[in-house]
Amino acid sequence: MSSQETYDVVIIGAGPGGYVCAIRCAQLGMKTAVVEKRATLGGTCLNVGCIPSKALLSTSEKYEEANHSFKGFGIDIKGLSVNLKAMMKHKTDVVSANTAGIEYLFKKNKIDWLKGAGVISAKGEVTVAEKKYKAKHIVIATGSDVVSLPGITIDEKQIVSSTGALELPAVPKKLVVIGGGVIGLELGCVWSRLGADVTVIEFLDEILPGMDGEIRKESRKIFEKQGVKFKTSTKVTSAKAGKSGVELTLEAATGDAKAEKLSADIVLVAVGRKPYTDALGLDEVGVKTDERGRIKTDAHFKTNIDGIYAIGDVIAGPMLAHKAEEEGVVLAEILAGQSGHLDYNLVPGVVYTWPEVANIGQTEEQLKQAGIAYKKGKFPFSANGRARAMGATEGFVKILADARTDQVLGAHIIGPEAGTLIAEIAAVMEFRGSAEDIARTCHAHPTLEEVVKEAALAVDGRPLHI
Ligand code: NAI
Repeated sequence: MSSQETYDVVIIGAGPGGYVCAIRCAQLGMKTAVVEKRATLGGTCLNVGCIPSKALLSTSEKYEEANHSFKGFGIDIKGLSVNLKAMMKHKTDVVSANTAGIEYLFKKNKIDWLKGAGVISAKGEVTVAEKKYKAKHIVIATGSDVVSLPGITIDEKQIVSSTGALELPAVPKKLVVIGGGVIGLELGCVWSRLGADVTVIEFLDEILPGMDGEIRKESRKIFEKQGVKFKTSTKVTSAKAGKSGVELTLEAATGDAKAEKLSADIVLVAVGRKPYTDALGLDEVGVKTDERGRIKTDAHFKTNIDGIYAIGDVIAGPMLAHKAEEEGVVLAEILAGQSGHLDYNLVPGVVYTWPEVANIGQTEEQLKQAGIAYKKGKFPFSANGRARAMGATEGFVKILADARTDQVLGAHIIGPEAGTLIAEIAAVMEFRGSAEDIARTCHAHPTLEEVVKEAALAVDGRPLHI
């Protein structure tokens, strides 16, 4: 009496990894279902991550510009104020449009949404809301969750994660951000622009760990100028929420100086995320994880159990939506019998502050450590006509190329539209192109892209406008 519904692929999790994998599977003719327990599709990214944060970043950028830069452009305005309720409505509308968009894509591609929490109840079987489904292939795309620090309880009111920081009911007077990484800087900048006094506490000696050293220093300088305060080489040992706010205790990262007290209205904990595999039934079916709780897979995203795969934040690699999406596409194509490959060295990273920070490939520190001889070309936005016209002259483009072959090995940008500019360099690197290829490409004038061209010219010591 097997009336069990059978699918070619059942994907658990409808974030960027899961939903993109589903669309590609459906395109390739597989009968596909996605399990999602949230009331809307799109996962962390669309609901409480990338998309709502970008909505707040955009609105706060506009406010900041109107407040501080419009005068210089000859625009006088009076009575400028923040309407937080309207800002939040914009954010909610953007999220709704995006999550509804995924629902439309599911219908268009005939992908079933199995509503509820998915459990891998046996090999080739997923249970959702007490109903069992047969699946030739099961894909785990359950993403990641916030981590806190020992002794610090996130209540999403006074001590918040990124989720709570997207929903503050008022602009805090004092916001302390624990963690000078991507979330800390993006959301710290939002609330700083809206008027909060923001202090970022970072354990390491510089913010944005993993990024190119010069970019890390420059970004800190720029954010400090914008009013954000930093305490680096510092750890938070406790944060206690009470009626009059949150009391924090700080110590030097080395633990050799005396403790310091700090108070705040709101504390944002942004010290990283962990793979989310709760109640999936991994132990029962025997799927192995590593010491950091990430599901172990081979290069084709297969776990140690036949027919079970994993992609996105739940496996190793950068926790980035676009990395998960690419993995989803590659996996779908592998399941359809095609070949697929993702070059992790060419996954760009972008921090959506203003100015933006973007990187791809190797940092100078990595090249030095690997003993690779490289040439460096650097060009500032301050020497670019379009950037001057925009009043956005901070930052630079840095291109690193192999000293012998001129192949582009890495690029690091801090400046206006850095996240968009990095795409040109990513494409060149995908083709194993050289700095000379970029330098010889005709770039429209006047554009910010000319800074990329000039940096490429600078690799060979022949920039034109400096
Ligand atoms: P992160 O790993 O980017 O930064 C965490 C920071 O906290 C690090 O600088 C770390 O040194 C610091 N830290 C750790 N323990 C600490 C302690 N006890 N005291 C003080 N500082 C401490 O993690 P984040 O910002 O929470 O983001 C989580 C994930 O989400 C990351 O993988 C990130 O790439 C991703 N994400 C990406 C975005 C983007 O691409 N624009 C936006 C938001 C998140």
